[in-house]
Amino acid sequence: MRVRVTTDQPWDVKADVLLIPIVGEPAFEGPLAEIDRRSGGEIQTLLTFGELRTKRWTSSLAAAGSLPAGRILTLSTGPAEGVDRETVTHVGSAAMHRLAGRHLATLAVWMTPLVEAFGGDAETVAGLLARGVTEGAFDPKTIYLETVPTAPPVLDELILVAPGADATALAVAAERGVIIGEGANLARRLSNRAANDVSPVVLAEEAWALAEQHGLWIDVIGPERATELGMGMFMAVGRGSDNPPRMIVMRSGEAGQKDALGRHLAIIGKGVCFDSGGTSIKPADHMEEMKMDKTGACTVIAAIVTVARLAPGTPLLAVAPAVENMPGPHSTRPGDLVRALNGKWVDITNTDAEGRLILGDAMTYAEQLGATHLVDVATLTGAVSRALGDLVTGVFGTDQAWTDTVLKAGVRAGERYWQLPLVDEYWVDMESWYGDMINSGSGEGGLVKSGLFLREFATKPWVHLDIAGTAYFRKAKPWAPRGSTGVAHATLVELALAGARTA
Ligand code: BES
Ligand code: MN
Ligand code: ZN
Repeated sequence: MRVRVTTDQPWDVKADVLLIPIVGEPAFEGPLAEIDRRSGGEIQTLLTFGELRTKRWTSSLAAAGSLPAGRILTLSTGPAEGVDRETVTHVGSAAMHRLAGRHLATLAVWMTPLVEAFGGDAETVAGLLARGVTEGAFDPKTIYLETVPTAPPVLDELILVAPGADATALAVAAERGVIIGEGANLARRLSNRAANDVSPVVLAEEAWALAEQHGLWIDVIGPERATELGMGMFMAVGRGSDNPPRMIVMRSGEAGQKDALGRHLAIIGKGVCFDSGGTSIKPADHMEEMKMDKTGACTVIAAIVTVARLAPGTPLLAVAPAVENMPGPHSTRPGDLVRALNGKWVDITNTDAEGRLILGDAMTYAEQLGATHLVDVATLTGAVSRALGDLVTGVFGTDQAWTDTVLKAGVRAGERYWQLPLVDEYWVDMESWYGDMINSGSGEGGLVKSGLFLREFATKPWVHLDIAGTAYFRKAKPWAPRGSTGVAHATLVELALAGARTA
């Protein structure tokens, strides 16, 4: 998809569809009155008729009258006060979903109502719209099926219509938005793929191909080396499957190199290609969703690729422990004791609390490779989705300044986060009779206890993003299909790019 920015008026733009964002109650004055007049009064008529409504994510597809555009698509955002970065991104993707199954090659978006609601920052709006349209083109059905009549349109050209704006600056911002959207889609495509397709070995091969393509350093650690290194928690999960585990390590920049902010940032993603629960097997209901338990790994792999595309050479480490959590004769049993890479002895009371095991060793390994700041991304607990639902990611962190830095990157990315407390008093429930700790604490507050467990493996500023609720949607939203959402990809990219030496 090409992106073109035009400063022409919307009534002079030729495209298959012209998108008109309706922010709040539309006032038929100025440019909207002119668009309406040239459409033959279509927009006002639809509003009076009740076909065009102002409720968020309602839309109407109308005839364009004498406008050069083929058709008009109105898409309502609700009141201007509610129009934030997330909304603007979703306007782009919701338009693509609304146009699913339709035949069009060019989409023009009239930016002005969004720019006004956004305090005049047209560059930011252009970037987010381009990202949203790119993300809106993704449909998980196209992964395995060759023809999907209900898929969003494949656009030749996105035209951003911004009268009075600096077209060159907007085009740069839009290109960046497309690359961020493509990165999210890369994460989603990998994450959505089935467990009989993407094993740990295949995930490592995909990472290897991406590393070669984008000039990243890569190291893939198999079971022998992982055992030698002392990754006892990683192997406790990995040993249970015929599909062997892989610790995937990717880097941009040099070993231990500090970025412009003096950090050697490591992003660490949970890569459980399938989580059956292991010996502590899960109930059958929704178990098929556990192929997406590798989403954290897919997210960090995609994020380092995106950073390499936007600012090559930016120091960044990505660690993705990939395993399949299966029951079987080689599996870990509840009550097994294993030695973690950092030397702690862990009493595995529940083999279904496997994410924290592989992440703990990955965090230690990242520190051994010189990481000074850690962020992990993981579909870690069912409890986080009960607490925060599918739109808000749970956050834990040590070092509040570092946590605030990550949360601010989230705001720039237009993604929602909520920090939860690490309650020291709950540690008593993590104590073991035999080792330094158990991996799954008794009693309430399991979400907090998952954070307490992971904290044992960080000696540097560390933030944990629990995306178990936000990683994938069970039902389609107006702006997204069911399946992997690409959540946290943009946040990690913003976080890493803040330390870029260029751009
Ligand atoms: N992968 C699951 C968490 C999960 C659940 C992700 C639902 C997405 C949707 C994780 O490995 C797990 O099984 N967590 C357990 C932890 C418990 C055994 C302490 C859970 O949340 O029940
Ligand atoms: Mn599990
Ligand atoms: Zn899991």
